[in-house]
Amino acid sequence: MKIQAVRGMKDLLPPEDRIWRHIERAARELFACFGFDELCPPILEHTGLFTRGVGENTDIVEKEMYTFNDRGGESLTMRPEATAGVLRAYIENKLHAAPGPHKFFTVGPMFRYERPQKGRLRQFHQINCELLDDPGPHSDAEVMIMISQFMEKLGLNNVSLLLNSLGCRVCRPAYREKLLAFLIPRQNSLCPDCQRRLTVNPLRVLDCKIQSCREVTEEAPSLMEAICPECRAHFSRTGSLLALAGVDFRLQPRLVRGLDYYQRTTFEVIGGDLGAQNALAGGGRYDGLIARLGGPDQPGLGFAIGLERLALLLPPLPESGPDLMVAALGEAAYERLFPLVMTMRRNKRQVDMPAPGKSLKSLLRRADRLGTGFVAIVGDHELAEEKIIIKNLQTGVQKTIGLQALLSWQLLETTD
Ligand code: HAM
Repeated sequence: MKIQAVRGMKDLLPPEDRIWRHIERAARELFACFGFDELCPPILEHTGLFTRGVGENTDIVEKEMYTFNDRGGESLTMRPEATAGVLRAYIENKLHAAPGPHKFFTVGPMFRYERPQKGRLRQFHQINCELLDDPGPHSDAEVMIMISQFMEKLGLNNVSLLLNSLGCRVCRPAYREKLLAFLIPRQNSLCPDCQRRLTVNPLRVLDCKIQSCREVTEEAPSLMEAICPECRAHFSRTGSLLALAGVDFRLQPRLVRGLDYYQRTTFEVIGGDLGAQNALAGGGRYDGLIARLGGPDQPGLGFAIGLERLALLLPPLPESGPDLMVAALGEAAYERLFPLVMTMRRNKRQVDMPAPGKSLKSLLRRADRLGTGFVAIVGDHELAEEKIIIKNLQTGVQKTIGLQALLSWQLLETTD
């Protein structure tokens, strides 16, 4: 049997890894400015956390989870998203006891058994943020402003922020009934998924991407018009704070999203040339969820950004190979240079030093592949004289310096 990677799971290979680190670094830098700390829950959780947290009737729980019994017979699931695990950790470690609000971010792999395509994998990575214990619209605005600054920092200007309100425990039930009264007489025109959604979560019919469903819901009662005055005030304050920060957004009344926990604000950032998988980030408010998972009745909201999708949109980073390759031609030269190179690395110099035994020609080919700017060559002759030749591979200019001077050698010294 030929062993291959599992379908929908990709190796991250150089040089793409550099884009990933660049994205993560940008996130860590910016999120720290907004007061977010890192919280890393495990990848495996008890299955019940997700059925309760994400929602029993979501596509994720119904058909996309990697669930198995461990050797002790316990049902475990590889996290399909981060929110449920972060909240479980928040409750279990009593982080809620300290005065809020609390802000956490998580970076890591998530697992969903979806049909793989461009921008959609079975193991994918999210940068996830949660802001807990703050009911006010300024928090909704703050996380969206943070995403907007993040996209800007990465140079992604061609993106749009879509915003909606789903109402709350007070106003949504009445809207749900109104929507059902509209949809039931038309149910034969809906796709099989939406016919099923009618009984479990009719609001999801609103954001079905299938054309026939879209035509049916064109004339559906408006959710925006049905929300209560408190939800309306929350929504308009969120919008005015976004405007104050200069963040553009578009009202998207169909934006319901695929997770059951949202209340009031939902949002997505879409953009780029990613075809159907153009959602770069999505999130919303989920007041009530912390209590449902056994914690205090504190509100919360958050979002997650898809790392693979961002990486697809960003241009490759310019090559940046090691500062220097040290070419020791022979065992004796290698031994003499070995401690010097280790000291240079301790001093944060990026130095490549292949083991002895290769020809100078093959070493130079390697230097070319790595994008190394300079090569330092020591053969028997140089060794006898305690000298080293440093060659600028771009200009071909070379000069000879004392061996020990290698330690204080600077890139610029040899550029002329
Ligand atoms: P989500 O919309 O399911 O939300 O996922 C967020 C983002 O993860 C998507 O916009 C997309 O960029 C990326 N993503 C999702 N599935 C895949 C996939 N199969 N392959 C590649 N990328 C994918 C959540 O997960 C919520 N937990 C977000 C949240 C946090 N809401 C509140 N707090």
